[in-house]
Amino acid sequence: MNVLRIIPFLIFLSIALTGYSADEVPLRELAAKRGMLIGAAANMMIQRGTQYAETLAREMNILTPENELKFHRTHPAEDRYDFQNADALVDFAETNGMKVRGHTLIWHQSIPRWMRDREWTRDELLNVMRDHIQAVAGRYKGRIYAWDVVNEYFDNKGEPRKSLWSETLGSAYMEYAHHFALEADPSAKLIVNEYDIENINAKSDGMYRRVKDYVDRGVPVDGVGFQMHVLYDWRFDADEFARNLQRFADLGLEIHITELDVRIKQPVTPEKLKKQADLYAAILRTCLDQPACKVFIMWGFTDRFSWIPFTFKGFGDGLIFDRDFQPKPAYEAIHEVLSR
Ligand code: XIL
Repeated sequence: MNVLRIIPFLIFLSIALTGYSADEVPLRELAAKRGMLIGAAANMMIQRGTQYAETLAREMNILTPENELKFHRTHPAEDRYDFQNADALVDFAETNGMKVRGHTLIWHQSIPRWMRDREWTRDELLNVMRDHIQAVAGRYKGRIYAWDVVNEYFDNKGEPRKSLWSETLGSAYMEYAHHFALEADPSAKLIVNEYDIENINAKSDGMYRRVKDYVDRGVPVDGVGFQMHVLYDWRFDADEFARNLQRFADLGLEIHITELDVRIKQPVTPEKLKKQADLYAAILRTCLDQPACKVFIMWGFTDRFSWIPFTFKGFGDGLIFDRDFQPKPAYEAIHEVLSR
């Protein structure tokens, strides 16, 4: 039998199995028309879940490996790197015409045991940082749209957070990391990624002062990442958010929404899902109204796989597809905003 003849049947089967209705234009297509990247954090289910992989590739034009590019995963021993899973995610993205956000080169939470188990001199730790960034950003050179070079650099006062990195290398460690990243992959945008900086407050002021100083002194930096792990009943002030984005845009920086999810206090009700949908829509609208806001990424896409229930007791359902990969009101809401 001619194998080509079963292709229409396979397409029918995959549509029937995923519940995807053909009249719905995928988000990525709508986003592309608006000159925007829309995406999700992704995990190794790309290799195990057909619905997982199909939904991700159908709807998104960018992905962020949720954990697989982090320091402890890529660099599990001083003299050993492991890129197996990261390679799979980057390959998956490329096969499906998606871009990749690199997350993350340096983070206080992904320090592997071999680094914790000893004391470091300044020179030694700087060498570890340089080697790591050269190895990881260098391996994917030309294939990463943007790197979160340092993740969560700030404390809630807007000062450099205390960590192995800041305590050994001083607050300048982020600039060193940016220089190393530029050297390793000159084509990747270099982003400072942070949470709780949506409003104008001490933390976002600290971010502003820091990146403005980088721009003034010529330290390589291309943008600011707003994680946005928020609550469904958060009193979102769109004007304040817009003003905040504008001051970063005025520095010539890009804005990436990097980890959006909208967690719901259990139990879920239709009202809560509606509030969640409204919040997703309002955040996306603010991003679309700001020319510097080019990337809109959620921290996952299906409630089947999300960090929320593990991290916030009593919360869940923060994403735009339900546990059975069916679009939720939040999906319809962002679909509508992108269609306008
Ligand atoms: C989280 C992942 O989602 C979890 O699977 C992992 O156990 C811990 O890290 N901010 C970030 C992300 O920058 O890297 C975090 O991801 C969520 C908070």
